[in-house]
Amino acid sequence: MLPRTRRVRVALDVNGRRHVLQIPPHHTLLDLLRAHLGLLGTKESCGEGVCGACTVLLDGRPINACVMLGASAHGRSVTTVEGLSQDGTLHPLQLAFVECGAIQCGYCTPGMLLSAKALLDVCPAPSDEQIRQSLSGNLCRCTGFVKIIDAVRLAARRLAAGSG
Ligand code: FES
Ligand code: FES
Repeated sequence: MLPRTRRVRVALDVNGRRHVLQIPPHHTLLDLLRAHLGLLGTKESCGEGVCGACTVLLDGRPINACVMLGASAHGRSVTTVEGLSQDGTLHPLQLAFVECGAIQCGYCTPGMLLSAKALLDVCPAPSDEQIRQSLSGNLCRCTGFVKIIDAVRLAARRLAAGSG
């Protein structure tokens, strides 16, 4: 008979910091971030991989943390919304979201920011269509999306001009 495994060891980098954790095997990456590391910026809404509220970057690519096991993040690098600002200075995307009024309740915002960052990291001058496509997995029930797209466009312009 196989022994019952109650905890699994997971070693990963989160926002540039190394963590070694023992977590229940059924815990998701979202559980790992919120319950084990106390990083509450990553939100849970649908819990089914549909809404994008739980989006984080895994080795630079956006994924839904609610449908990935925490143990699967072993050896990987995760970026959450808490990792966007540097030394107390907001990321240009965060500033642009505030300036453009792209935030209402804010529940979708961390996921939106990370999907947008993943886009700008590989496509510094995206078209509106590319911005829309990159955010297609992130649902917002408040803003109507127009101001969010404005904000990503503004951040891209500033980053390209070196004024981010
Ligand atoms: Fe993960 Fe909705 S909470 S996709
Ligand atoms: Fe409320 Fe997007 S600002 S869901």
